[in-house]
Amino acid sequence: MSDVHYQSLDMQNAAEKQAKSGKPSPKVIGSIVGLIVLIAIGVTVGVIVSKNNSKEHKSTASSGSSNSSTSGGGSSTTNPNDPSVFTKDERLHRSFYGMAYTPEGSLPDYGCSNSLAGVIKDIQLLSQLTGRIRLYGADCNQTALVLEAIKQTKVDMQVFIGNYVVEGDPTAYERQRDVIKSALQTYGVDHVAGITVGNEFMLNYVVGHNSNDANSAIADEGAAILTANIADTRSMLASLNLPKAIPVGNSDAGSYFNKQVMLAIDYGLSNVHAWFANTTIDAASSWVTTFFEETNVAPAALLPNKPKMYIAETGWPTDSKDISNKNNGAADASVPNLQIFIDKFVCQANTAGIPYFFFEFVDEEWKDIKYGGVEGHWGIFNKDRTLKSLTLPDCSSP
Ligand SMILES: *[C@@H]1O[C@H](CO)[C@@H](O)[C@H](O)[C@H]1NC(C)=O
Ligand SMILES: *[C@@H]1O[C@H](CO)[C@@H](O)[C@H](O)[C@H]1NC(C)=O
Ligand SMILES: *[C@@H]1O[C@H](CO)[C@@H](O)[C@H](O)[C@H]1NC(C)=O
Repeated sequence: MSDVHYQSLDMQNAAEKQAKSGKPSPKVIGSIVGLIVLIAIGVTVGVIVSKNNSKEHKSTASSGSSNSSTSGGGSSTTNPNDPSVFTKDERLHRSFYGMAYTPEGSLPDYGCSNSLAGVIKDIQLLSQLTGRIRLYGADCNQTALVLEAIKQTKVDMQVFIGNYVVEGDPTAYERQRDVIKSALQTYGVDHVAGITVGNEFMLNYVVGHNSNDANSAIADEGAAILTANIADTRSMLASLNLPKAIPVGNSDAGSYFNKQVMLAIDYGLSNVHAWFANTTIDAASSWVTTFFEETNVAPAALLPNKPKMYIAETGWPTDSKDISNKNNGAADASVPNLQIFIDKFVCQANTAGIPYFFFEFVDEEWKDIKYGGVEGHWGIFNKDRTLKSLTLPDCSSP
């Protein structure tokens, strides 16, 4: 995993060099968009999940009356023996189509320190925001932990599982495929909406081979690795004789979808970050929807298999480790600006039927340590699961 992130940083540097060397072409912006996601592992699926209303939780205490603004977390288990009994935070609403999620401590390099208790707490919170989450990878047992937490909390939640493919290390794909298979055998597929094979694989591959074209000859060599893994995942799913078809998809930076990959998937998850395209905060939301439509949705619709496209990540950072990275040239990383982005994007995207995974749930400290800049500061919640000073929208999500 560290290699992957290291490569991502190299790519970021390469893209920054590109950006500085000339006027920003859409491709450069695309690579910048791609950079964005240093994140961990990724998965997605293009399945339509039925939304639910929020009646599924059995709340004992009257919901919303907790002192969560000072106590932190926004929910609390009221019966330690039954995680399905928890108080809800009246500040939270199931207004988000989906949310990007990596259980804390789910990277082998960081010792696999995740825990079922931590994931249960997160799922209790996430279920108050959305009915869908996407994971980035499957290391450190995170697939089983998430499905177990959904089982115990009894929340209405669909998961796009992830398999983080690593160039030059086929065992990474195989290891994750095997634990995903095992999790599906244990938990079934009621809460599984898809399996995303690869996260920013093409971005890393293309930039790592000194190209900037996701459809160059060298890019097609990388795509062949990915399409073989996608086919293998389909075989694994077929071998399980599952009661429903599980879509298989891929996640990448917005400008790095290779045509061969697109032809192999049921759905694509695209990272679209206005921050890295240096928009103003006021222009950010419309930039995201326009970029996504033009760069991802329209081209996908022209393919015979018509993969369903989702925004894999979009959001706005609230802070930076260092002052120099605290603005994108046009707007600051700040909580008020995240508020503006949420206000302009979330309910409008729901109304427009744009499927998206908001980025992201909580601040991720390991990214702050490893990458600096704004990387660790995209959360709606702080790393301790207290809500930032935000007013979350109350609208229905499809
Ligand atoms: C909530 O906070 C108020 C004021 O800080 C305090 O008086 C009250 O005891 C708290 N209630 C609970 C349940 O913690
Ligand atoms: C993975 O997580 C599940 C659910 O908590 C647990 O039952 C299983 O023992 C875990 N496996 C490992 C290897 O930790
Ligand atoms: C965005 O702004 C930063 C500095 O604020 C600059 O380094 C970068 O090249 C800019 N990117 C684009 C695409 O204009």
